[in-house]
Amino acid sequence: MTSFLTEAFDIKVQNLLKKIKYKNSSFYVLCLHQSSSLITGNKAWKLKYNIEEVIRRGMNGVLTFGGTYSNHIYQTARFCNAAGLASVGIIRGEILDNNPTMLAAKTNGMKLIPLSRSDYKKRFDPEYLEFLQTQFPSLKLLPEGGTNKLAIQGTTELGNQIGQLCREHIIANVGVSVGTGGTIAGIICGLKNEVYTCGFGALKGDFLLDDARKLVNNETLVRWGVEDDQAFGGYAKWNMDLIQFIQEFYTETNILLDPIYTGKMMFNAYHSDRLDESWMFIHTGGIQGNLGFRKRFGVDLPITE
Ligand SMILES: Cc1ncc(COP(=O)(O)O)c(C=O)c1O
Repeated sequence: MTSFLTEAFDIKVQNLLKKIKYKNSSFYVLCLHQSSSLITGNKAWKLKYNIEEVIRRGMNGVLTFGGTYSNHIYQTARFCNAAGLASVGIIRGEILDNNPTMLAAKTNGMKLIPLSRSDYKKRFDPEYLEFLQTQFPSLKLLPEGGTNKLAIQGTTELGNQIGQLCREHIIANVGVSVGTGGTIAGIICGLKNEVYTCGFGALKGDFLLDDARKLVNNETLVRWGVEDDQAFGGYAKWNMDLIQFIQEFYTETNILLDPIYTGKMMFNAYHSDRLDESWMFIHTGGIQGNLGFRKRFGVDLPITE
């Protein structure tokens, strides 16, 4: 890897671990959203080996998929721009002019291709993917959310680093938000049964557990689970209790959460009495989406740190 890339992916997690107090409880948060690297949150680990492959194979960049407020789209566009790589985003639904995530992606040079919600369903269809590859032969195709084998190679390294921190601080449980499952799968692989990993579903349904199991692909790794009914009814569903929790959490801890992933995780951890020093919660990022959320729904969500 070039020195630019090595530096971007050389994130020292020990500097990001914070002991937090909230409502008289103290617990750990691994603040990946506060890394000084160009890519923040879980995306650094998900992109690392994918970008390395793009460069090793002499490709020009990546083509990927996401919703109009996607963190994956946002971080991929920013990173490709800084690394001098091209990026194309196949976007689910209409792109509105005032959407800050899409604006940032565009500003970072991403070519945005909106698809209707029904056409977007083709994103897993091998024939459609082959068609896209012929249209963009020099780009590496990355699935929605960036989850693939190379992403899990990266998140496994994150799991190793988390394991080291758990040993140092005598932490027995790790909490992480689950979308496509690539982040938790790598963490489970990296922790090797040493610590219990609890996934908090950002979506609703038992498919989350099945997806994670397939991605982990190792039946000897048993110390983990996924809570699949914690998403306020589904992906990007929310209510005012959640928003109030995020506001209060921010006021008390100075840690900004997002309402799609980390806010739900911390809300559910709090309401299931898990906030104590045996727990480390992984802040996977995503707060870029708060501005768009605020504009869309007119709620008073904190947006800066
Ligand atoms: C901020 C944030 N947290 C958690 C996740 C869930 O990660 P994964 O899709 O790997 O399960 C995502 C999606 O990638 C995300 O953007």
